[in-house]
Amino acid sequence: MKTPMSERRDSYKVVSIEKSDTERVLAFLRQFFFRDEPLNLCIGLLDDDSTCAELEEFCTESIPEGLSLMAVIPDNEIVGVCLNGVITPEDNHHDEECAHPKFSKILKLLGRVSEESDVLGRFPHVKKALDIRVASVHVDYRGRGIAKALFDATRKMAKERDFQLVKVDCSSHFTALAVAKLGFECIYTLHYKDHLGENGKPVFVPEEPHTTVKTFIYHVD
Ligand code: ACO
Repeated sequence: MKTPMSERRDSYKVVSIEKSDTERVLAFLRQFFFRDEPLNLCIGLLDDDSTCAELEEFCTESIPEGLSLMAVIPDNEIVGVCLNGVITPEDNHHDEECAHPKFSKILKLLGRVSEESDVLGRFPHVKKALDIRVASVHVDYRGRGIAKALFDATRKMAKERDFQLVKVDCSSHFTALAVAKLGFECIYTLHYKDHLGENGKPVFVPEEPHTTVKTFIYHVD
């Protein structure tokens, strides 16, 4: 028998994403994140296609590291994901070439944010940081604290696994609100209106209230 909708909405648990979950996590992201993350939405990432192979790779490449989490309801349906990976001083992730014209704009922005926020350069004692790369919650379950629960669980996992720092680039105003509530510190802000293309115009004009990308960090004690 199916659990009633109201009960399903309130009872979820946070569990690890295993390699065997990769396909269903991708199916979830194709339905939500690929379409509704503020940057993907404003450049119409999926206007011409049903998916973006480069974003799929970006999302799934860190799953084998075993640091990613998801929120599931009693019948095991996914209602939220938080894809996490390790960053070390040697990483230079976003400099890679990308053949997808729209997704390459996002990688370029992330490259700029990474360079200018310079998280590991600012904190040279940090040899291993945990990067929250992608957060997405089912549209019917938003505003109920699921993202906050996933970030909180990520922070606890970081402590158990001897990470010194957790970092997240928040392209959404709501992720910024969530991590600020959890005590993360904002160390970098870029206003989308100041990220200009070759034509001198902003590359991204997302819907309000998404006006900035902000880098937040949390020092694991
Ligand atoms: N309007 C106003 N405030 C909102 C809304 C909304 N629609 N949605 C969330 N909030 C606020 C909450 O009130 C809360 O703030 P508070 O702690 O001050 O009360 C904060 O945002 C976080 O709320 P949660 O309920 O924990 O967040 P939620 O579970 O709804 O997930 C998320 C937030 C992941 C951003 C979701 O809206 C989503 O999937 N959006 C589309 C994809 C996206 O933008 N992903 C994040 C990109 S950045 C990254 O991936 C690292």
